[in-house]
Amino acid sequence: MTSRKQEEALDYFTTHAKEWAKKAISSDRGKVNVIQQRNQYVLKVFEDRSETRSVLDVGSGTGDLVCEIAKQGVSALGVDFAREMIDIALQKKQEMQLEMAHFECCSIFDCNFTEREFDLISANGFIEYLSQDEMSDFFDLVQKILAPRGSFVVSSRNRLFNITSMSPFTKDELKGKDVEALINEAAALASNVDIAELLAIIPASLQEPDIKLARTGVDVESRFQFTPVQLMQMLNTRDLNPVELYPIHIHGVPPTFKGKHPEVHASISNLLQTHAEQNTEFIPFSSTFMLHVQKGD
Ligand SMILES: C[S@@+](CC[C@H](N)C(=O)[O-])C[C@H]1O[C@@H](n2cnc3c(N)ncnc32)[C@H](O)[C@@H]1O
Repeated sequence: MTSRKQEEALDYFTTHAKEWAKKAISSDRGKVNVIQQRNQYVLKVFEDRSETRSVLDVGSGTGDLVCEIAKQGVSALGVDFAREMIDIALQKKQEMQLEMAHFECCSIFDCNFTEREFDLISANGFIEYLSQDEMSDFFDLVQKILAPRGSFVVSSRNRLFNITSMSPFTKDELKGKDVEALINEAAALASNVDIAELLAIIPASLQEPDIKLARTGVDVESRFQFTPVQLMQMLNTRDLNPVELYPIHIHGVPPTFKGKHPEVHASISNLLQTHAEQNTEFIPFSSTFMLHVQKGD
């Protein structure tokens, strides 16, 4: 049975596909384009890998990432359960005449992956639309269909940002029991400790399955936030071993100031983003983070 979150996501992305398509390709420097920042990171992982023969993008939306990879002559498959998203992606494939771009309209849980495996799997803006049980099933599936030494890149809403944003999310954290664990993890990241040390941290407990978080941007029931260590540990138990963390949408000003002067926020944030590589100390100040893990040693 699919969760309410999944039903709401299908409904939302079916009705907002055109809006999403515009957002994905916008080059407005007065805004922060999170979609493009996430795609750029996946492309960086793709370029850094010694060999990649096949790519799977889960929740591929309007297909920009798949098309970008296919342009480089590598077979890329985008899977999305919203027909309207897939139709836009197929139109792009046709316009750009990309034979290596493939799209399937189905839930990732219903796709037939028999005898198929991928060297690189990405999931940008995806796990937040799953219940915790579905996310666990999804990570099991990734482990199964990822080739040995394959890379999995996943983005997540960042719960550590609740600590630094000084926003209503911060006040909500104060009512719970996880503040100390969140600060501890944020401090470790801010002092750039290595991946092995991070993995040994005891993270905050997961958000309650019925938690009510403020709806920001996408009108779907509470989209869970995770901390980097929570995801690293969940994947590590599946022999998906952390390679790199990467900050997305770095904040140089508090959200209240951002609300008053969005263009100032965007200008600072876009500048900081140019320093994202190897600067995990930005992660506590980023509303999203990316995690790259590799299967096996
Ligand atoms: C926030 S959008 C991100 C789209 C794209 N990855 C991007 O970054 O632009 C999330 C996408 O995941 C898709 N999605 C959610 N649950 C899914 C599922 N179970 N199987 C396939 N696609 C799903 C939605 O339809 C939506 O297009």
